[in-house]
Amino acid sequence: MTRSHNLAILGGDGIGPEVVAEGLKVLDRLEDLEGFTTERVDYDLGGRRYLDTGEVLADETLDELRGSDAIYLGAVGTPDVPPGVIEKGLLLKLRFAFDQYVNHRPVKLYPGVTSPIAGLTPERCDFVVVRENTESVYAGAGGTLYRGTPAEVATQESINTRHGVERILRYAFELAASRDGKLTLCHKTNVLTNAGDLWMRTFTEVGESDFPQVERDYVHVDAACLYFVTSPERFDVVVTENLFGDIITDLGAALQGGLGLAASGNLDPTRRAPSMFEPVHGSAPDIVGQGKADPIAAIMSLGQLLAFLGEDGAAARVERAIAAELTEHGGARPDGSRSTTADVGDRIAELVGD
Ligand code: NAI
Ligand code: MG
Repeated sequence: MTRSHNLAILGGDGIGPEVVAEGLKVLDRLEDLEGFTTERVDYDLGGRRYLDTGEVLADETLDELRGSDAIYLGAVGTPDVPPGVIEKGLLLKLRFAFDQYVNHRPVKLYPGVTSPIAGLTPERCDFVVVRENTESVYAGAGGTLYRGTPAEVATQESINTRHGVERILRYAFELAASRDGKLTLCHKTNVLTNAGDLWMRTFTEVGESDFPQVERDYVHVDAACLYFVTSPERFDVVVTENLFGDIITDLGAALQGGLGLAASGNLDPTRRAPSMFEPVHGSAPDIVGQGKADPIAAIMSLGQLLAFLGEDGAAARVERAIAAELTEHGGARPDGSRSTTADVGDRIAELVGD
């Protein structure tokens, strides 16, 4: 029987639909090459749709999405929507509703790509950041009192549960074990002594009892920012809480050559609900419609999606094709004239056949 997967496609806003179109071009080719099929349903969601209809994500839509095997997302957000509406109403809602507790972010510098870090070479930069994706300050705890008055008080509490911390650590330990690598916990245990204590104790306990073969290391988040730049080779798998992860993964994106090359998966490893795969970048309104958007990040995210669905052959083809594309054209990303978004998609769709 032919393998078939139900995919929900959320192009979103700005360059989101442009880069997703290239990903789907590559997917068409992979289906022919690897002999699987996909049923794709398009969803019109994001800032533009909110401005048109006042709706961000209806409960019926959420229920429909729940029935898919995976979600492929471009980017959402438009400059004229107030901050928070789409982030909380769509992205965070999906992550929380589907309990996508892992944000899996490879930080890999490919040969041919110019990193802004002078002298950085691919052998020195190949690690994964595992970011907790459902707790910390993103859980929405806290509130505002006396808003707009001199007495205003705002609190934004960091929620950390044993359950939430342990499950993300287990995912990270398993990943480190599969890479024969070490696991580095990144936190701020010297100041955040409550949350840090929970993280550190759980890290030590889970490591000692169930992953004795995995070397454990610890780094404060501020020092991590330094080491990412000066000695990324010290990292293999880095596990961290939600806010720190959000910040250090953008630094990771810089190391690997920019947002156009950074992919992510929001995973529910229990597979009770669909996982969601998306480039790290946003809707880039400054370059929309100009053919300047690099679709590599979106295509890498597609590779993650395929690996998660068990299409390992297709995922390996994507990885090889991206490496080949970047080796040859890594220093010349799409500029809208000599090379465009669609040119890159065409080339990768070709290269996956090699
Ligand atoms: P952004 O990631 O959209 O753009 C930042 C800079 O990187 C811009 O100069 C842009 O041109 C460039 N860039 C981004 N993706 C690129 C690509 N694939 N190829 C070449 N250059 C690329 O971040 P920004 O400008 O802060 O946010 C724009 C909108 O996107 C906002 O509405 C924001 O809320 C939303 N956003 C959405 C995200 C998501 O859907 N997950 C993530 C980040 C921002
Ligand atoms: Mg971010």
